[in-house]
Amino acid sequence: MSADYLDLPQLLRARGTIQLPGSKSISNRVLLLAALADGATELYDLLVSDDTRRMLDALDRLGVRVEQFGETDFRVHGVGGRFPVSQADLFLGNAGTAFRPLTAVLALAGGEYRLSGVSRMHERPIGDLVDGLRQIGGRVRHLARDGYPPLAISPPEATRANRVRLRGDVSSQFISGLLIALPLRGVETTIEVLGDLISRPYVEITLATMARFGVTVVRDGWRAFSVPAGSVYRSPGTVHVEGDASSASYFLALGAIGGGPLRVTGVGSDSIQGDVRFADALQQMGARVSRGADWIESRSPADVREEGVRLHGIDLDCNHIPDAAMTLASAALFADGPTMLRNIASWRVKETDRLAAMARELRKLGALVDEGADFLRIVPPPGGLSPAAIDTYDDHRMAMSFSLAALGTPLRINDPQVVAKTFPDFFARLAELGDPVPVIAIDGSSASGKGTIAARVARALGWHYLDSGSLYRLTALAAWRAGASLDDEGRMAEIAAGLDAEFNGELIRLSGEDVSDAIRSEEISTAASRVAALPAVRTALLFRQRAFRRRPGLVADGRDMGSVVFPDAALKVFLTASLEVRALRRHKQLMGKGIAASIENLLLDLSARDERDSQRSVAPMQQGRDAELLDTTNLTIDTAVAQVLDWVKTAPKIG
Ligand code: DC
Repeated sequence: MSADYLDLPQLLRARGTIQLPGSKSISNRVLLLAALADGATELYDLLVSDDTRRMLDALDRLGVRVEQFGETDFRVHGVGGRFPVSQADLFLGNAGTAFRPLTAVLALAGGEYRLSGVSRMHERPIGDLVDGLRQIGGRVRHLARDGYPPLAISPPEATRANRVRLRGDVSSQFISGLLIALPLRGVETTIEVLGDLISRPYVEITLATMARFGVTVVRDGWRAFSVPAGSVYRSPGTVHVEGDASSASYFLALGAIGGGPLRVTGVGSDSIQGDVRFADALQQMGARVSRGADWIESRSPADVREEGVRLHGIDLDCNHIPDAAMTLASAALFADGPTMLRNIASWRVKETDRLAAMARELRKLGALVDEGADFLRIVPPPGGLSPAAIDTYDDHRMAMSFSLAALGTPLRINDPQVVAKTFPDFFARLAELGDPVPVIAIDGSSASGKGTIAARVARALGWHYLDSGSLYRLTALAAWRAGASLDDEGRMAEIAAGLDAEFNGELIRLSGEDVSDAIRSEEISTAASRVAALPAVRTALLFRQRAFRRRPGLVADGRDMGSVVFPDAALKVFLTASLEVRALRRHKQLMGKGIAASIENLLLDLSARDERDSQRSVAPMQQGRDAELLDTTNLTIDTAVAQVLDWVKTAPKIG
């Protein structure tokens, strides 16, 4: 199922334990090495996600037999360096960890292959790797733009060349891909790295996994790597894949900001992944971190304050943790000063231009951001984070790193399904670890007393209050003032989405003007009930309502608070009262404001609105099965408030 957005409630705190999914980098490397090896290899705890699916699909097309014997366990029957299929067309999506090494391996494998991906993959450079392969006889052609996929590969030319000179400052995956492929040549071959090598820890992962499959690379620091003559991959029998250290970063940051303790298992001090050093950076920001061989745990700094934790801003060269550094960018929102992330130019050639995307989205939350060619400087918003709808740019790490902001504000994540690239159940796991700001939903018919009761309950608890009906009333008033037709659904939704409304206690302003009384007139009440029946208006107002859910809690009244807007409310109450009593109450209210009204007309109006509110196609007013029924016909406000507060005491999700 794919949804267009996911609304995250603000989280009060986060703690617990999470078993990490397998590492993407290790999973795709071991799959390819196991395929190239002599003999069968059993892989345990492999990552099952879009990116590893791409590699599995490709291996299948190349004739490699792979069996799945557990949810995350696979048996790969190695082909001893010769793929059974020598002509294939491979589609690799946006999986860089599949595309780069397969390009190198297939260029030396001796067949006719075609490699393509999604359009973003075709914007990610690969020219340096292709040049490198050509230096040792590889015949690789760019099918569209020079330097970029898609590619066509033919069997290599015979050559005695045994040296590849390769730039190290665009993507370390070029070096990793070549290293993995070189044993196919049989002769000693050396890669000479030109310039600085970025993202070195990923090359370390490559060297470590190759060693596990019996190939030892001889190296001269970071300048040259030689694969000896006669190197062949041999199955080690079984391989256990470590948890993903980049995925760990989101949860470690969550614990550091949200109190903790939050423990990730599957990576720890024994890890071969460079991104485990993300925990050091968090420590520099003031988080308390502890580690074991295969776990890491984070907690907030000792001096936790009620209104959210403050980490310290840092100035860091992120070359050693390029992926996890994105998590630092969103953790920087919770710092007490600016954070400077340096040496992150490689972000520009990832799933999206991450430097630009990060800067744009951080600003939506209120941060001041300086975007340089290869750095990002983030000044956290002084007044706390603002609710925002975050775009994810088809980039899993955008979605996951921004979800941290939920510790500071309600948040909308657009296209949340992008996490499937590396972490399909990310949001479900997040929900298990974070405690959302509690909501009390009070729904019911017009003049049932819900507004008064809800506001009093909010005051008694010291919580925020949302009068959701006022948003429909404001929409109706704004439409009336604009001379727009209430039947024009598109226009009504536009007006609802663009409401310039301000709430301050009892006072409600529309474009700066006090309209607290104007929205309560009978005409506007009727018009509000009509616009409220338009699905597009309800959709347009959804996130605006959810944005009221700020710490320490929210009491919200309306018709669909418990059913649609806050289905996870800690307490749901449904208020009713007889039609006669409600008409009398409304009459008294209007007279008090000096507005003339007749009881007969009010009876008619109220029953017409009840009818419309409960019969409409979307979010009709009705008592949910999980809601407490409170009939206020014979109750004073005080008794009704006392009853709700009594229920609050026993609600399990509050406190
Ligand atoms: O609660 P109220 O009378 O101020 O609501 C005004 C109108 O808005 C009412 O006719 C029902 C509609 N409404 C709604 O459909 N959903 C809500 N959550 C709140 C109000």
